[in-house]
Amino acid sequence: MTPMIVEHPLLQHKLSILRNKQTGTKEFRDLVGEIATLLCYEATRDLPMEEVEIETPITMAKTKVLAGRKLALVPILRAGMGMLDGMLTLLPAAKVGFIGLYRNEETLQPVEYFCKLPQDIAERDVLVLDPMLATGGSAIDAITQIKKHGAKRIKFIGLIAAPEGIEALHKAHPDVDIYLGAKDDHLNENGYIVPGLGDAGDRIYGTK
Ligand code: URA
Repeated sequence: MTPMIVEHPLLQHKLSILRNKQTGTKEFRDLVGEIATLLCYEATRDLPMEEVEIETPITMAKTKVLAGRKLALVPILRAGMGMLDGMLTLLPAAKVGFIGLYRNEETLQPVEYFCKLPQDIAERDVLVLDPMLATGGSAIDAITQIKKHGAKRIKFIGLIAAPEGIEALHKAHPDVDIYLGAKDDHLNENGYIVPGLGDAGDRIYGTK
């Protein structure tokens, strides 16, 4: 699947402010949440529905409600946490798992330092959150771990991706649909997305 780039004007406007290096921590954090909400709206378009009969003050009516598909949100630590509240705005009943990984500098193998997922994750639709899909390494490793816990329906949601990251993620996990705010130009020699927005974690939390 080619990634779904959400071209909505509100999202693209907010993304431009986010990219600006003059944007301060509070505004940056708020915008990451708002963009996550808009991405969530698109990524949940295919949730199954069922018909119910209700009584309005005027008459009986057949209307639709969500068919009870269970969801889990899994932010990749730490920048993915910045997207969590924005997603929960639309999905308040979702369960939340966390996954933290780093790369061993010598072996380049992913080391999972934290993983706490809902017990029934195998029965849930899982939305994996990370603002920046750069090389794709963290997303690939996180999704591999989540699949080991039995999850079968997984989507990845990010703000900005490099073409290299999209390709790597799609190659490793072709079954995972990818939702993004933008596909940027390339990765630079330091692993940053160009033009990107810098280090998302540092800008969300005001570190560095
Ligand atoms: N992670 C970030 O936060 N920014 C990038 O540009 C790449 C990876």
